[in-house]
Amino acid sequence: MELEQKIEEIKDKAVASIEVAKNSDELFNLEKEFLGRKSEFNNILKSLKDMTDDERRKIGALANISKNEIQEAINKKRTELLATSFDFEKERIDVTIPGRKQEIGHLNPISRVQKEIMDIFTSMGFEIADGPEVETEWYNFDALNMPPTHPARDMQDTFWIKSDEMKERVLPRTHTSAVQVKYMEKHKPPFRIIAPGRIFRNEATDASHEHTFHQFEALVVGENINVGNFKFIAEQFFSSFFGKDMKVRLRPSFFPYVEPGFEFDITCAVCQGKGCSVCKTGWIELGGAGMVNQGVFVAAGYLKNKYQGFAWGFGLERLAMMKYKIDDIRLFNSGDLRFIKQF
Ligand code: FA5
Repeated sequence: MELEQKIEEIKDKAVASIEVAKNSDELFNLEKEFLGRKSEFNNILKSLKDMTDDERRKIGALANISKNEIQEAINKKRTELLATSFDFEKERIDVTIPGRKQEIGHLNPISRVQKEIMDIFTSMGFEIADGPEVETEWYNFDALNMPPTHPARDMQDTFWIKSDEMKERVLPRTHTSAVQVKYMEKHKPPFRIIAPGRIFRNEATDASHEHTFHQFEALVVGENINVGNFKFIAEQFFSSFFGKDMKVRLRPSFFPYVEPGFEFDITCAVCQGKGCSVCKTGWIELGGAGMVNQGVFVAAGYLKNKYQGFAWGFGLERLAMMKYKIDDIRLFNSGDLRFIKQF
């Protein structure tokens, strides 16, 4: 058969099949069959190079025209299929409709306050230490001079975790002081750290008490640290946090892991120390502190009397409540968006 005739036949067959294609899959297969790399048509095009100049010109021109005709038929059919399968009324995109507003969340006030506190301490050269929320009895109590029978354990009502597999008793830590010995075992003085974190106590809740809340522990250890250093750093910190001059007052108190020990109060940020319904006296009690007991250093593996240091811990929620004038601690975990959205 003459090559021209064959080209015409392929083209006619291709165009006829394309015209009756029922869907885009069928059309895709026809395109492959008639114009693809392995198609009869392509073989003819490949054989052009072995022809004489005259033949090549003649056959080449015809092949090109036919190929274009097949391609045109495919394009026409594709537009047709698209028009019939696409419901323009239904699928129409109205570009004038305003976009849907995406709700963007933000940090919980506790996270914000925690970040603020960390920024202030790191600007004073403190490093941030971390500890697990579930701790062994040793780090939470014994290493801090609180053996099982010590009455001071009663000051922190404890949730205990039942586990037969653990060699030691474990608990959700009752204070961030649990980080102290753990950190000291791995680091040599001098150092100054803060250890922020969540803690847990088996307590009835009210406007100023939660069972799950946050504390900040600060621990500064060296060879020449004294109570004056603590008072200065505490005043610097609170003044920076509240953006105004704050005084710190120490009152003797007892914690088995410090000696001497204090409770510390700060100027009431609501009345500026004049005395109001929140504070009554002009002072607000915020946490505990003291010089690290030498027994704690020994538990951490340090030589007795080689170092001194101070430790203090305070409640983050109560600090946030003073700064943002929040009158109920339970709001933080309430999940009430009316509260959260105010920050
Ligand atoms: C302690 O937890 C000591 N570990 C603090 C300390 C650290 C003393 C280092 C000495 C050296 P206390 O139980 O008083 O102490 O708690 C400290 C602070 O946590 C309190 O002043 C208060 O701000 C906060 N706090 C205590 N209990 C609650 C509670 N149930 N809800 C909210 N905040 C609380």
